[in-house]
Amino acid sequence: MCGIVAYVGPKDAAPILLEGLQRLEYRGYDSAGVVVSNKGLKVRKVKGRVADLAAAVPARFKGTLGIGHTRWATHGAPSDVNAHPHLSSDGRIAVVHNGIIENADELRAKLEADGVVFSSETDTEVLAHLIARTAGETDSLEEAVRAALKRVVGTYGIAVVDAGRPGEVVVARNGSPIVLGIGEKEMFAASDVAALVRYTRQVVHLEDGELAVLKADGFRTFAGDARPTAKEPLTVDWDAGHYDTGGYEHYLLKEISEQPDTVARTLRGRLDDRFHIAHLGGLNMDARETRSFRRVKIIGCGSAYYSGQIGAQLIEELARIPADAEPASEFRYRGPVVEPDTLYVAISQSGETYDTLAAVQELKRKGGRVLGIVNTVGSAIARECDGGLYLHAGPEVSVASTKAFTSTAVAFALLALHLGRVRDLSPAEGRRICQGLRALPGQIKEILALEPQIKELAHKYAGSPSMMFVGRVRGYPVAREGAQKLKEISYVHAEAYPASELKHGPLALIGPEMPTVAIVPDDELLDKNLTTLGEIRARGGRVLMIGHRAADPRLADDHVVVPKNETELDPILLTIPLQLFAYHAAVALGRDVDKPRNLAKSVTVE
Ligand code: G6P
Repeated sequence: MCGIVAYVGPKDAAPILLEGLQRLEYRGYDSAGVVVSNKGLKVRKVKGRVADLAAAVPARFKGTLGIGHTRWATHGAPSDVNAHPHLSSDGRIAVVHNGIIENADELRAKLEADGVVFSSETDTEVLAHLIARTAGETDSLEEAVRAALKRVVGTYGIAVVDAGRPGEVVVARNGSPIVLGIGEKEMFAASDVAALVRYTRQVVHLEDGELAVLKADGFRTFAGDARPTAKEPLTVDWDAGHYDTGGYEHYLLKEISEQPDTVARTLRGRLDDRFHIAHLGGLNMDARETRSFRRVKIIGCGSAYYSGQIGAQLIEELARIPADAEPASEFRYRGPVVEPDTLYVAISQSGETYDTLAAVQELKRKGGRVLGIVNTVGSAIARECDGGLYLHAGPEVSVASTKAFTSTAVAFALLALHLGRVRDLSPAEGRRICQGLRALPGQIKEILALEPQIKELAHKYAGSPSMMFVGRVRGYPVAREGAQKLKEISYVHAEAYPASELKHGPLALIGPEMPTVAIVPDDELLDKNLTTLGEIRARGGRVLMIGHRAADPRLADDHVVVPKNETELDPILLTIPLQLFAYHAAVALGRDVDKPRNLAKSVTVE
């Protein structure tokens, strides 16, 4: 999705802006642009990669203040002209924008009726013209920006420069993140801390409706009504090294390989050996309150939603509280009944996903109690929730989620243990789960050692036009995530079904052309799963079994055997071979593994 970078200080702005934009590439984009201010505005923008933009920036592109953007097209096709920044007709104001201006058509018609000539098809350009109309008359750029934003309906994170005021950048936020970075006699801003960590770890997150004025010597923030606001800087513990591939060929493989550490970090300091409970201080609830919930509803999008399904199963099993997961994107539009005795849990790696954020806001409006399971500290969703758990998995760069997925499932195991132990889960059962959780990092290492075998299997199956993924109960979300990974990065069509549902329809698809990946843990449903494999084989279907024991060759062509943990925790481990399988299938097919087509890492628009 779109990205914003801004700089004001003593240094040459262009290299800093280009470097920042490069750090945002992982989010997905189709064009990029920069503007610097130096006795007038200098602009370069291109359809294509940040590297193409860097090549188009001349050596004499000097200026110590500027803004940059990576665009993900919404209004108008990807093109040089539609790329940001957008300028007012007189060339005085330049704007970069993330989000969507919903009344852009109406504003555009009014401006055109007044004689304004537009040069792009974007919604953003109206902002440049609106700001320019008042910029000459107001005392400050921020007043002109504020006046323009009053006329706008929609979501935005914006950065604005004015050729007439060469020492300042104005940024504003409504529904699309803006983070300020505080340097030594220099200020930065970006839509994502990834663009800032090379320069500073001191950041300030803007709230919706806030606006900030950045100058080399500091910043001021204001609420929508122009009242100054006081902001406490936050120190981010992610550094630039987190954003390197660290010697791996792709971020995805790096992030898959990091999971022994990331899972250990999610667990760190949270398991209590005396009472066999989980310490989750961030929930902000005492035991009595924790006992008062009668249901748990989990929301998230994409892989976050599938990890929520694993979470719901864990909570039902360990805490015996009815729990279910739903896509946040659906939840917010169906007028959900919000109950006081339901605990709502929102999941997000980025903490920015618009659908999830809007669902949380809807819940809060209706008085719901919402916990967040979030990776990005200080992100919008984390701030909006009443409490929660951070994953501490470090930044996830590859579009397909892997380490955040497993850490979220682990966070749910902690939450389920916590909810269970304040209810009826015995200390002995609590100890069993704590021991299982502690064993996870070592067992993940064992699974990662199977990579050569999984790579071979991925090569064997990657040529299939379509694949079926099946699992029962705990195995079903694993199958869904496995199918999601395969389709998003290798573009091989993949379907996931509960194994129990196969005979109610999708069995018609099974044949030599459609192999099945079957999740077959050693649990109480083993025999039923093996029966399903027999049904698939009887129809000429090939089977790759992921489970805890070698497959009977009559039931499966291939198998991957993973170490056994506690039954409730096994789904976490069973997911990992599927990540490696999708990765190697995508590499074998020559796909752009870290930036799959049409997808974005953080979907910050509707
Ligand atoms: C996008 C990404 C997915 C991710 C989903 C939710 O669709 O492509 O990989 O699972 O957003 O992201 P979040 O940051 O909220 O976990």
